[in-house]
Amino acid sequence: MNICVVGTGYVGLVAGTCMSDFGMNVICVDSDESKINMLNNGQIPIYEIGLSELVRRNVKQGRLKFSTDLKEAVTRSLVVFIGVGTPENDDGSSNLTQVRQVVAEIAGYITDYKVIVIKSTVPVGTSRELRELVKQHNKAGVEFDIVSNPEFLREGAAVGDFLRPDRVIIGADSERALSIIKEIYRPLYLLETPIVSTTNETAEMIKYASNTMLALKISFINEIANICDKVGADVYKVATAVGMDKRIGPKFLHPGPGFGGSCFPKDIRALVSTAESVGYDFQIGKALLSVNEHQKELVVKKSRDFLGGLDGKTICLLGLSFKPLTDDVREAPAIHIARRLKDEGAVVQAYDPAALEQARAQLPDINYHDDYLSAAKGADLVIIATEWHEFRDLDFDQLKSLMNSPAIYDTRNIYDPAEVRKKGFKYICTGRH
Ligand SMILES: NC(=O)c1ccc[n+]([C@@H]2O[C@H](COP(=O)([O-])OP(=O)(O)OC[C@H]3O[C@@H](n4cnc5c(N)ncnc54)[C@H](O)[C@@H]3O)[C@@H](O)[C@H]2O)c1
Repeated sequence: MNICVVGTGYVGLVAGTCMSDFGMNVICVDSDESKINMLNNGQIPIYEIGLSELVRRNVKQGRLKFSTDLKEAVTRSLVVFIGVGTPENDDGSSNLTQVRQVVAEIAGYITDYKVIVIKSTVPVGTSRELRELVKQHNKAGVEFDIVSNPEFLREGAAVGDFLRPDRVIIGADSERALSIIKEIYRPLYLLETPIVSTTNETAEMIKYASNTMLALKISFINEIANICDKVGADVYKVATAVGMDKRIGPKFLHPGPGFGGSCFPKDIRALVSTAESVGYDFQIGKALLSVNEHQKELVVKKSRDFLGGLDGKTICLLGLSFKPLTDDVREAPAIHIARRLKDEGAVVQAYDPAALEQARAQLPDINYHDDYLSAAKGADLVIIATEWHEFRDLDFDQLKSLMNSPAIYDTRNIYDPAEVRKKGFKYICTGRH
């Protein structure tokens, strides 16, 4: 089957590459010429484990191509996936400019039946609106279907998630489109991946409800951790025991400096905005956002309290991406923390294994280092903001000799407090008293 994927970001590039690995002929299209040039030169514009090998293999076998020519890609494809960005407007609602623009363009190009698949995260009702948009722009009245196929991959584990998803959601109002999309995902039947087929509206809602639930678990355990700090309980044991309850499960019960990334904060704000637009006050969504802001700010407060003020202090910040194994710094708690520490007069010396360039673009006026030891030179405090593997085995002796005074704030609780203290460090963490 010939398909094309519009948008070669985290979602589009991974989805397109993996679908070519399923045996489809895929053209990935992006309006960003520099990205397409990189891809055509064998370079991968994002940091995602396992992706470059998969791209190389499928390009070599002739099933995967990259282009800026949307018209040609649409013309030769039966299915057009859309994975462009859906950033937020100032009021928190979802900005659909990229999606609408691409759909209007596609509508102008189609001359025979197409399935247009929305993979971008879009508010409930968007597919309905896009159906009208296609009709407006396709005067010839060519047949088409709009399918909602939200994506659940996690950056840092995106290839594995796409190839072995927990479920595939297909929202469609036509049997014809449903069977075409099911055919694309047929390789997953072997893994007995559940396929949930539903209406477009329900599919759109499933994506927002899933992300809100995950963020809720994070914020819930963050608040429990904050109470643990005050009452002398250990959130590590609390979370482990709570997670043993099969009705709850152990995942996403790790306290830290708050959630970030390109999805959770924006998607929750979008759902709050959707609810508002239909006259519903989504109280949990709002509380969740405010708890998360508080959690990021708490890292600044605990650092300030520990150091007796931040002005003139040197702080080494380890980890800038919103989670390990990605270079994505969009809404990363570490970026917020770095900015706030700097605003209060601290000298921030930061290091990240993958996201230095991306962080520099967002926050040019802190000091960046190429390894964690040079970032720790002269520091009054090391803050571990993202739990990259290489921070799980820090060289404490070297750190101690380089720092102004040996102290670690382990916001992600990756160390055993007693062990770190035994090495002569003062140690702060989250919810372990
Ligand atoms: N990043 C994730 O982990 C993730 C997971 C699930 C869902 N999503 C959703 O998927 C969508 C895409 O997210 P992303 O992180 O991949 O975004 P991204 O910003 O990394 O990539 C979007 C791409 O679309 C391209 N683009 C924009 N306008 C275009 C146009 N008119 N024609 C062709 N290309 C165009 C951009 O150049 C960019 O390369 C969003 O709706 C997001 O919420 C993201």
